[in-house]
Amino acid sequence: SEATKWAKEDIAALVSDQHGWVDPRIYTDEALYQLELERVFAKSWLLLGHESQIAKAGDFMTNYMGEDPVLVVRQKDASIRVFLNQCRHRGMRLCRADCGNAKSFTCSYHGWAYDTAGTLVNVPYSECFPTLDKKESGPLQARVETYKGLIFANWDTEAPDLATYLGEARFYMDHMFDRTEAGTVAIPGIEKWVIPCNWKFAAEQMCSDMYHAGTTSHISGILAGLPADKGLSDLPPPTEGHQYRALWGGHGAGFYLDDTNLLTATSGEKVVDYWTKGAAAEKAALRFGATAQSRMALLHMAVFPSCGFLAGVNMVRMWHPRGPNEIEVWSFTVVDADASDEIKDEFRRQSMRSFSAGGVFDQDDGENWVEVQQILKGYKARSRPFVVSMGIGRDEGSHPDYPGRIGYVYNENAARGFYTHWARMMTSPNWAALNQTRPGSVNKLDSNGIHTDSVEQSAGY
Ligand code: FES
Ligand code: FE
Repeated sequence: SEATKWAKEDIAALVSDQHGWVDPRIYTDEALYQLELERVFAKSWLLLGHESQIAKAGDFMTNYMGEDPVLVVRQKDASIRVFLNQCRHRGMRLCRADCGNAKSFTCSYHGWAYDTAGTLVNVPYSECFPTLDKKESGPLQARVETYKGLIFANWDTEAPDLATYLGEARFYMDHMFDRTEAGTVAIPGIEKWVIPCNWKFAAEQMCSDMYHAGTTSHISGILAGLPADKGLSDLPPPTEGHQYRALWGGHGAGFYLDDTNLLTATSGEKVVDYWTKGAAAEKAALRFGATAQSRMALLHMAVFPSCGFLAGVNMVRMWHPRGPNEIEVWSFTVVDADASDEIKDEFRRQSMRSFSAGGVFDQDDGENWVEVQQILKGYKARSRPFVVSMGIGRDEGSHPDYPGRIGYVYNENAARGFYTHWARMMTSPNWAALNQTRPGSVNKLDSNGIHTDSVEQSAGY
């Protein structure tokens, strides 16, 4: 195991939940990165796409779990299989297309063919392989589960089921994926681009950082998105909202209440009207059974480790690591399945404008991460911890309407939760060890003097 290069105590000391800092070497160290592939990416539930992207039997798409290429395939019985996109013969990529429909996958190296379930069905010159057992020679299969149309997979047989893994994060996902009984559909196409930065910069920001929205260069994008007769003084950044930190598991989200100013800037007035007024919004409010979810506007969210959502823009993200210093961003947009074609197209256009490879907001975010990563090439730049202390001692607790640990919207508590969970996974050789760190398993005070096993979960999440 890569763990031999870093002692357990040394990894645990890279992150401080109590004092709010992280050691910058977590973004650059090659040995830590190899350990991440083993202990984080090979043990977590990872998003692979939306069910509507492989609707019919034989539909497939290729994707990645960490750096491992996988094939995601719709079966004849409508179930979904995920298996390593690697031929068992000499390791060639089995399928080299992004997506399509297939009856089988034939390796382009020596022609071994596998059916859509991943069973080896044909070997050229098979009489020359008298010892080969075809049934035992399929690619490695991952566990697959879905939540509200989203496809997740996990290599680890000991990991909890997906619903347990997501925990109360499901409440926040529902705000985007369960507004109507029709569910959501993905707008065709996945945008993919490369950013030279560590994957945790992207994931942590979507998890915890509403703080940057009013600074960075987002302001120019906000101005550009406002109606012609309005300026920033008419629509200041909202001040009321909450941040969610997972009780355990590293997930996080932040959202404004009622105020739609930033949502207008990112998504335009048509989308805001659809999202907050009219029949679709009433349907969503009824469905949520209370005003709690209906009041949420522009929610940012990350499911640990590398999946993100932006509700109201309806962007879905995967950040695939490519070494410690690079990511491949995969992004698509979802819409309510029963929305009109006009609204669907408006979501498509607005999410392209705001959050895409060329989106006015995405470019700001990417520039920050690239700069930080570049600076971390310096020896001294890696010598002192970064501050992640916003909100400590200020506003940690529970809320009657929102599950999880809830604080003020401008906060770094969810980031501390993200890094704390990262350190837990990095120091746990398996899920049995990881489960020992769940609330209730350890009776101790957290950084704000709250018993971590006494925070109530609400609404069955
Ligand atoms: Fe696939 Fe040889 S590597 S058939
Ligand atoms: Fe941003």
